Amino acid sequence: MTYLGIETSFDETGVSIVKKNSNGNLEVVSNLLASSANLHIKTGGVIPESAAREQLNYIIPLLDKSSKIVPLDKIDALCVTTGPGLIGSLLVGVETIRTISYIKKIPLIPINHLHGHIYANYLSHNHLQIKYPAIALVVSGAHTDLIYMKNEKNLKVLGATRDDAAGEAFDKIGRLLNIDYPAGAKISKLADSGNPKKLKFPRPMLKSDDFDFSFSGLKTSVLNFTKTDEFKKAKLQDICLEVEEAIIEVLETKTIKAAKKYKVKSILVGGGVSTNSKLRERLGKYKSNFDVFYPEVKYCTDNGAMIAAAGFFSKPLSWEKVKADPQLYY
Ligand code: KG4
Ligand code: ZN
Repeated sequence: MTYLGIETSFDETGVSIVKKNSNGNLEVVSNLLASSANLHIKTGGVIPESAAREQLNYIIPLLDKSSKIVPLDKIDALCVTTGPGLIGSLLVGVETIRTISYIKKIPLIPINHLHGHIYANYLSHNHLQIKYPAIALVVSGAHTDLIYMKNEKNLKVLGATRDDAAGEAFDKIGRLLNIDYPAGAKISKLADSGNPKKLKFPRPMLKSDDFDFSFSGLKTSVLNFTKTDEFKKAKLQDICLEVEEAIIEVLETKTIKAAKKYKVKSILVGGGVSTNSKLRERLGKYKSNFDVFYPEVKYCTDNGAMIAAAGFFSKPLSWEKVKADPQLYY
């Protein structure tokens, strides 16, 4: 079975081909990606209209290139992100793929972007070897969600962010500190040479009884700090270290609390923030209690392969019924 995955929910345009082998392994045949991230450095964040216009330029050339690797008549299903995301961006992928599905009579599978971040793990690990129940932590630019997975198809939300997501917190705090968008990886790199115990920022909702998150208070705390005399004397590396510590400590504590409460066998992490080496190191401490899985770094951030991977666990729908839905949730 060979599936084509299309991702256009935010600022990336991804077109990938993924094959399911007879042993259950998902093999990425091609993974094409065009990003408009450079365009958004100037504005310190994504301008939806600009992102969608760039995607309009990228989508056909990428599909053309992909069909030279595996022609469309050898594709068994088209998988497309229908939400959540920016409406203009989603429409580029969804309408293009609906048209191809209609003309070429290829089955169409609508995919939730958040499921894609979870199933990205199956691109790097044989899904038959992952033990359930599991906890999935989706940490991206727009989401911080804890999901209970009874098995690989049954997903239940345990908690989510009440305001800013973890990636969004990194990006917005980056803006306060004059660090280019997207700031997560840059803050993490600066943090490597920071001095611990120099500063203290809050760990929002660390001890709350639920599995929800909130990072806007941390952002406000950094904003207030930038207005003080202490800020003028502080080293950027030390600030970055404390920001990263605050975010990672909350993610670690809540994920492990959920994993223990629900007595799971595995933890699956996904989304752009899951490339963070400190998060990997922290969750790695629990390897004797749970198997901890991450996608390869190139499949943590948005891509088409994770959408094709999710397709193998979802059902096709007739093209007339497939619609972009910016508010889609699990
Ligand atoms: O999953 P993703 O590519 O896009 C969304 O679906 O939102 O995630 C992008 C987010 C950005 O907020 C970026 O700053 C963050 O992932 N990110 C990181 C790192 N690499 C990317 N955050 C912390 N540490 C990193 N190494
Ligand atoms: Zn994403």
